[in-house]
Amino acid sequence: MAAGSREQWNSKAGFILAAVGSAVGLGNMWRFSYLTAEGGGAAFVVLYIAFTLVVGLPVLLAELTIGRGSGKSPIQALAHFAHAAGGSPAWKLLGVVFVSAGFLILAYYGVIAGWTLRYAGEALMGFAPDTAGHFGEIAAGAPAFGFHVVFMAVTIGIVLGGVSSGIERVSMLAMPALFALVIGIAVYAATLDGSGAGYTYYLNARLENALSIPIFVDAAGQAFFSLSLGMGAMLTYASYLGRDNDLPVESAIIATADFGVAFLAGLMVFPLIFAFGLQSDVGGSTVGALFVALPKAFVSMGAAGRIVGFLFFVALLVGALTSAISLLEVVVSAAMDGLGWPRARAAMVAGSLITLLGAGAAWSTDVLGVMDAVANNLFLVGGGLGLSIFVGWVMDDPVGEARAGGSQGALRLWIGLLRYAVPAVLVFVLWNSIPSTWKSIMALFAAS
Ligand code: PFF
Repeated sequence: MAAGSREQWNSKAGFILAAVGSAVGLGNMWRFSYLTAEGGGAAFVVLYIAFTLVVGLPVLLAELTIGRGSGKSPIQALAHFAHAAGGSPAWKLLGVVFVSAGFLILAYYGVIAGWTLRYAGEALMGFAPDTAGHFGEIAAGAPAFGFHVVFMAVTIGIVLGGVSSGIERVSMLAMPALFALVIGIAVYAATLDGSGAGYTYYLNARLENALSIPIFVDAAGQAFFSLSLGMGAMLTYASYLGRDNDLPVESAIIATADFGVAFLAGLMVFPLIFAFGLQSDVGGSTVGALFVALPKAFVSMGAAGRIVGFLFFVALLVGALTSAISLLEVVVSAAMDGLGWPRARAAMVAGSLITLLGAGAAWSTDVLGVMDAVANNLFLVGGGLGLSIFVGWVMDDPVGEARAGGSQGALRLWIGLLRYAVPAVLVFVLWNSIPSTWKSIMALFAAS
């Protein structure tokens, strides 16, 4: 690459698969499963789809538009468009919030990915039957940190390789493999006796569980987290695009693929758990379904369970890796643009600092839970709110920037959503989640 020229994706498919790789991750399987269990099955799924359409898609298109239009990392990209519109230079602080969110999320995301790495190995050897006790032993402490370090080292290694020869190449291999695994396991789950109860649980709408403000807030937060929105990941990926992409169409493809994998995850997880009567192990905990109930199902399946369990945790790991890459790339591209660092230094320094920050989450699952709540409820939702106001009200001609020569009408609707609906929903979410997030932070301090 010539000095000063910006890296680019090799192909459109490469960009789309990398963006889908960012979106599809632990959020689609771990978060989606426990939120759906808690939020009333299909009732939650419908809410989540609604928030994806009304809030997720418009913000996704906003991120892609700013990224491609500026060809810069988040802080510089916001400064660029704020300057062009005669707006305040302080808008770049929103970019600082984005980069901080990347730091925070990857720190605990890496710890969960570390559990996943460990579970892939353990699945192959056969899980011990007391899966709850086992999870309690491995979730926190030095081994949890060790697996996190290994996972982070792989993530850093890929980001070191650069946009097209690192991120794009891995995504082109990983995403088709992940789709094949998820479809294969979902089909296998359908063949198990007793899986029907799982479908009933998943696909029936238990409205009484869904109609509450906390579940609304969760569904909106999940639409954001799952699409990697509100912290500049999609913005950063789009900054490596040329001009000839049809961003509205690509946003729709990314959102559809992301939802598709989440939906399929439900078609794997619930039938597997219910076929073995393990619903009580799902419990009220965020990790019950994936790290306690499922391993028990794999134990009950005997030899087949070793293979299916291994493939399941490999799929989860692949999803986590392509998402972690995008989280790190936000911080790395900001350091390259803002500090003028070469990629190698940016990846090593940022990756190491994030790995160290993960020690907190590896130390205690309570700390991990609070990091997740703060990142999701405050940073991503706050970041998305700032971005929708910026594109809806401040930026000059966002429709012209987003357009590929296509439909004006749809883009007007987009601006309308960004101006009114998206901020209204996100303010509502923030308003309702700040007190509970604050309480969880205080509880953590009180306990320590
Ligand atoms: N979308 C990822 C998932 O569903 O697991 C998580 C994520 C990745 C969130 C990248 C935010 C982000 F910038």
